[in-house]
Amino acid sequence: MSGLQGKRVLFGVTGSIAAYKAAQWVRDLGKEEALVDVVMTAAAEKFVTPLTFAALSGNHVHRDMFDEAAELVMAHINLSRDADILLIAPATAQTLAKLAAGIADNLLTAVVLAAHIPVVLCPAMNTAMWTHAATQNNLLRVRQLGYHVVQPGCGSMACGETGDGRLAEWDCVREALLSLLQPADLSGKKVMITAGPTREPLDPVRFLSNRSSGKMGYALARTARRRGAEVTLVTGPVALPPPPGIVVIPVTTAEDMAEAVLARSDEMDIIVKSAAVADFKPLACQSLKIKKTGQGLQLDLVKNIDILLELGKKRRKHQVLVGFAAESHDHVEEGRRKLSAKNLDLIVVNDILGPRTGFDVDTNQVSLISRSFSRQLPLLSKEDTADQIWDTVATFFNDSQIESLS
Ligand code: PMT
Repeated sequence: MSGLQGKRVLFGVTGSIAAYKAAQWVRDLGKEEALVDVVMTAAAEKFVTPLTFAALSGNHVHRDMFDEAAELVMAHINLSRDADILLIAPATAQTLAKLAAGIADNLLTAVVLAAHIPVVLCPAMNTAMWTHAATQNNLLRVRQLGYHVVQPGCGSMACGETGDGRLAEWDCVREALLSLLQPADLSGKKVMITAGPTREPLDPVRFLSNRSSGKMGYALARTARRRGAEVTLVTGPVALPPPPGIVVIPVTTAEDMAEAVLARSDEMDIIVKSAAVADFKPLACQSLKIKKTGQGLQLDLVKNIDILLELGKKRRKHQVLVGFAAESHDHVEEGRRKLSAKNLDLIVVNDILGPRTGFDVDTNQVSLISRSFSRQLPLLSKEDTADQIWDTVATFFNDSQIESLS
């Protein structure tokens, strides 16, 4: 289930060429089963027709404060009453200026003034307009007024110029919406997550590794950030884009990961080790490519450092330590053994044999095991699995479970 499912999004569109992207965003929100109501300014209608937004949202588009034919009386007050969040995308320099000054001369700006819900602004304009002192002052002011601004990107624009002012990407806007719609129960917490595989080099072209895609660890990082945490993600080599708003530390080998994690562990409130760290590495990495000889090849492997075990030994009081276990059988027994051997608060036991669980898929099925409970979760998306893990971790801060362990 997406965090946007069932949420009522009031979507304001103003007069910029980027309005065509807003049409796609309305569709994206609909795909996640959000309920979207669109409000357009007169200038927005010069770029995209209300009919487009009506078709994509499945709802009548609100355009005029004084439209007697529209069924909503006092639309400027009532529209935001029923909504969970107000998103304005694109937000032009003109609309930003009006909002900064508290001007309410059209339906959309009047709706903003009357709103008691989070307001998210996605500015889009030419670089010169964006960097102009007047716009920058207006941005400061709208932030002071409590509106949330999603920073525009840098790139080529419809006017032919390249620079700042390009409408932000949907991924960043989606993250902003989810952060504002979810409880900030990890607010003020420093969280470190490890993700992905490690690679243990054999020679300049070959390495030992595993099938971890990083999807589980990245989902944990994104969801923790949404819940207000300050997140550091130590990641092995994966093909995923860095999640917005997160400190990302790329590493390659288990030794690199150990160094990055152990150097930062003391300052963390919560550490979650979802990375699939190689248990063994070649005794030595050959400086030249190993040649074929027509014979087989014997490899000497040595044990890698167990990072989680070290964290368990040096953990400080009130620090929450969560491990993962990738298991093919005896899940609960193995989970309990690792929980105790590595001095953890919680272990997430992963069934790696199911076709839709574990490595390199978008879903997972896990059991959460602590010293006092064991709970099996259903098959869920990795984001939903991550949220269930955070729901559990958040309870540790409300009761004395950690104290009894530390
Ligand atoms: O990345 P994805 O494709 O999304 O896949 C997710 C996943 C299957 C990798 C993930 O859900 C998972 O199960 N991660 C743990 C994999 C693992 O290494 O399990 P383990 O049982 O071998 O290790 C137990 C714990 O010790 C883990 O928290 C691991 O990070 C840690 N460990 C292991 C070895 C080592 N040398 N150092 C460690 O810290």
